[in-house]
Amino acid sequence: MENKNVLSGMRPTGKLHLGHLSVLENWVTLQEQYNCFYFIADWHALTTIFDDPSDIKKNIREIALDWLAAGIDPNKSSIFVQSSVKEHAELHLLFSMMTPLSWLERVPTYKEQINQFKKSGKDIAMYGFLGYPLLMSADILLYRAFGVPVGEDQLPHLELTRELARRFNYIYHTDIMVEPQALLAKVKSLPGTDGRKMSKSYGNCITLGAEKEEITEKVKQMVTDPARIRKDDPGHPEVCMVYQYHSFYNAGECAEICASCKAGSIGCVACKKRLMAQLDAYIAPVRERRKAYEAKPQVVDEILAAGAEAARKEAAATMMKVREAMGV
Ligand code: TRP
Ligand code: SF4
Repeated sequence: MENKNVLSGMRPTGKLHLGHLSVLENWVTLQEQYNCFYFIADWHALTTIFDDPSDIKKNIREIALDWLAAGIDPNKSSIFVQSSVKEHAELHLLFSMMTPLSWLERVPTYKEQINQFKKSGKDIAMYGFLGYPLLMSADILLYRAFGVPVGEDQLPHLELTRELARRFNYIYHTDIMVEPQALLAKVKSLPGTDGRKMSKSYGNCITLGAEKEEITEKVKQMVTDPARIRKDDPGHPEVCMVYQYHSFYNAGECAEICASCKAGSIGCVACKKRLMAQLDAYIAPVRERRKAYEAKPQVVDEILAAGAEAARKEAAATMMKVREAMGV
């Protein structure tokens, strides 16, 4: 039978923003064609916040709402929480018996991240953090996924997953493991409202279900062409954040805005107003869906439970074969 399983996950680290929305749009497209499993990687989150897990439950909620708001359809995709499908842990454990230590130590993000966290006074050099990519391999191989929609930053992990699949099949003379490929979306990467990388810690992003007030506030803060003093000065849209956002979310009017700005016939305040309206129209359906699910927490619980059940079924089939191959 043709393999149509797709799998991806995100760590529950807080509310998602507009940058994630374009990633999720890709997930939404994939669910039309494939058997998609999307999971909330709470165990992965623990590798860096094991000492303060108080927000995990809340963040799992937020991310589930964000996914549903973005259009992940529970009738088409299975969405679930990683820790509710214990097979992820079992496969991770069994993989740990046959994965050379050096494979994990040479993952480029390993030392990098440890040093990064060290700077902020935090030691994440734990056994579990070393195993982060191995747990990720287990996530993927458990579903025999042919495709994994991820960003470029995850490619080394995907490569490790493929190597591990080959090693497993070779050692145990099987073809249980399916080598996954990365489904790299042409996701537009939009900078934050201040021009730096979009990141919650910079406070420069617009949340995925943003209210009108938040949109207005964030657009007001956007830096425009600093050389423009009066509103009829000719502007330079290429250096303006507002214009960058117009080109993402208002492609239809972008050329006209560019020309008007250069001619000095549109003021920055009016230009920002148009962006606010455009962003609001773009976000409104997402915001509405989010609110509808927010009002029905038990429905979200049911969706996650049904997703976990579907996932478990798929995972159990793989684990039967894995246990047999590994003699346990
Ligand atoms: N490491 C991924 C990230 O930080 C999250 C993740 C965990 C994942 N397991 C996965 C992504 C399996 C794809 C497939 O974004
Ligand atoms: Fe930027 Fe618009 Fe002002 Fe031009 S008119 S500088 S594009 S905000």
